Amino acid sequence: MNILLIGSGGREHALAWKLAQSPSCDTLFATPGNPGIAQEAELVELSIADHAAVIAFCAGHDIGLVVVGPEAPLVSGLGDSLRDAGIPVFGPNQKAAQLEGSKGFTKDMCAAAGIPTAGYARHDSKASARAGLDAFDAPYVIKADGLAAGKGVIIAETRAEAEEAIEDMFGGGFGDAGASVVIEEFMMGEEASFFALTDGRDVVAFGSAQDHKRVGDGDTGPNTGGMGAYSPAFVLNNDLQAQVMERIIAPTVAYMAANDMPYSGVLFAGLMLTDEGPKLIEYNARFGDPECQVLMTRFEGDLAALMLAVATGRLAQAEIPVFSSQAALTVVMAAKGYPAHPVKGGTINLAAVTGAQVFHAGTAEVNGQLVAAGGRVLNVTATGASVTDAQSVAYAAVDCIDFADGFCRRDIGWREVKREAASCAP
Ligand code: AMP
Ligand code: GLY
Repeated sequence: MNILLIGSGGREHALAWKLAQSPSCDTLFATPGNPGIAQEAELVELSIADHAAVIAFCAGHDIGLVVVGPEAPLVSGLGDSLRDAGIPVFGPNQKAAQLEGSKGFTKDMCAAAGIPTAGYARHDSKASARAGLDAFDAPYVIKADGLAAGKGVIIAETRAEAEEAIEDMFGGGFGDAGASVVIEEFMMGEEASFFALTDGRDVVAFGSAQDHKRVGDGDTGPNTGGMGAYSPAFVLNNDLQAQVMERIIAPTVAYMAANDMPYSGVLFAGLMLTDEGPKLIEYNARFGDPECQVLMTRFEGDLAALMLAVATGRLAQAEIPVFSSQAALTVVMAAKGYPAHPVKGGTINLAAVTGAQVFHAGTAEVNGQLVAAGGRVLNVTATGASVTDAQSVAYAAVDCIDFADGFCRRDIGWREVKREAASCAP
């Protein structure tokens, strides 16, 4: 089977790397791709917004599966267009992608289906949102309803900051995403990510991970797309995972099917592990970036066959996903200035790296030289018997990378490393 992969980040490099190893993948194409993806796939130029052009490419190259990496094409209905043309696609239709595209939609679903999550209220005007703050205590959690590139959530310590956030959202600071807002109860606990694959009817667990969203060591500084991750998230033990499947994932899949918008693809649940059990923070309609990099490093099956089973409603007949018992950890190397103003064009030399897999995120090749072309640039990924071991291999590799204009956090995996140290203590 020939496959077309859509996307250009570290997530898509990891997917390309795994798809290229799949016995059921013949030729792998990718668009737009990046220099790392080019090592695994044939890059093609296509306008993703032009659904007819994507369909024509698929017809001309005997594409048996399209894998959509990022959320934006799903929220704009690429899945629908491909399905209407009879092309199997890994990723939900537009209505189902509302689970990521509209925070209010997801909260209403949780309310209707009894899924544990933070209490909330939706507001479509500034005045009602400001008045609505009365129903909550500080810290206030204010969210733009729509897609905002991961920046649409403000945790305000004071009422004044909360009012400022509301002002900003309704003032267009978040584009159309802020035309409607959700105010939520603040949840306390440790965060973890859980993944499940579903074809709209059946559902299987697909691993766990923990991300590091703040830019600085010790979880300080501004939020980013993620500065590193490790898998599995041991804190999400078997008992908690069973609870997540039963109370969160299964009712979601059932609700979507019952409401005529069956969800097909990967469900990425951001969870808060509270004293009352796991609660849903948010859903994403795609794999996490950089969570995908550690999941793909541990996944041991035929990814192309599994994704095709999801895309064609045959998940019940597919092999149960198996992951390595090893831990995997990825360190994001970002361009200096990220997240606000990343420096572009810094040169990169990877020749001295051993023992780790380097996935490319924002890289480009200029006159044969690898350079930084985005905020998050490289994902240095390693495995080990423990998170501590994987962490030391990953940082040893980081230290072999020549990228003067880059930086990384030095403490990826710290929560688990601390637990591992405590469990070894006499
Ligand atoms: P989201 O984009 O919805 O995942 O939110 C981004 C981050 O904001 C999450 O990873 C949490 O750290 C935090 N967050 C979101 N909602 C809440 C909440 N209700 N209580 C506490 N923290 C939250
Ligand atoms: N790393 C968080 C995300 O992909 O949404």
